[in-house]
Amino acid sequence: MSRTVYVNGEYLPEEEATVSIFDRGFLMADGVYEVTSVLGGKLIDFPGHAARLERSLAELEMTAPMKAQDLLEVHRELVRRNGIDEGLIYLQITRGNPGDRDFAFPPADTKPTVVLFTQAKPGLAANPTAKVGIKVISIPDIRWGRRDIKTVQLLYPSMAKMAAKKAHVDDAWFVEDGLVTEGTSNNAYIVKGGKIITRDLSNDILHGITRAAVVRFAREAQMDVEERPFTIEEAQGADEAFFTSASAFVMPVIEIDGKAVGTGAPGPVAVRLREIYLDESLKAAV
Ligand code: PDD
Repeated sequence: MSRTVYVNGEYLPEEEATVSIFDRGFLMADGVYEVTSVLGGKLIDFPGHAARLERSLAELEMTAPMKAQDLLEVHRELVRRNGIDEGLIYLQITRGNPGDRDFAFPPADTKPTVVLFTQAKPGLAANPTAKVGIKVISIPDIRWGRRDIKTVQLLYPSMAKMAAKKAHVDDAWFVEDGLVTEGTSNNAYIVKGGKIITRDLSNDILHGITRAAVVRFAREAQMDVEERPFTIEEAQGADEAFFTSASAFVMPVIEIDGKAVGTGAPGPVAVRLREIYLDESLKAAV
């Protein structure tokens, strides 16, 4: 069935939605995005995604095309029109269509391109993969130095995902200067002696909205959280490993570069954090 998508102020059947070949997102990857999950027809962590979007735009000197409240209405309308119970909403904003290709940014009054679409994912919360966990390989992090901005430059993460597939595992963790930065599209964690360890926030990683919530919920549940980098060797010797993202919530990692982590099965901390995250986020969903 054809989806209804949103493009530049209009709700259209997906076959009719178009953007220009001169769009800066297409020619220069000059755009930012957000992925927000939907559970029970409601948006998870919308204020966090809206705040990060605003920050990404500001860092790239792009004017926000809409207020957060108006964006929320578009998200809700797409959920409604597409009958989404569980799934994702993808939002992308680019620097628009200047009518030609040029490295210099177009005039500030060039209209940004705003695109949103839904992805139905029935069973997202009850994802059976979370019961068995996933396997990762490590791969050098050769991305640019502003990973805190959620840009659409996703070629290298796509290549890393393909490297993982070729290695018959599920995902890859990036390593820079001997330390894990993050996953292809998620934040990375280990658990040792009951302590949750995840890399501290900087320009080296995306400031995950799920990460912020999980760290807060963990601390509220009296769990010990340490924000510092770790190596692949430390992760392989940990009791547990997991990752977080808006699309996977909390996902146990059971093997890194062919070595089992802990018992080789999802650990109790990851399982508990997934439960807490889903419970608490659902309560706050809008
Ligand atoms: N990815 N790190 C990277 C590089 C990411 O691309 C993502 C999200 C995260 C987790 O952020 P959050 O918890 O806000 O989703 C960390 C999204 C889901 C994607 O690209 O599909």
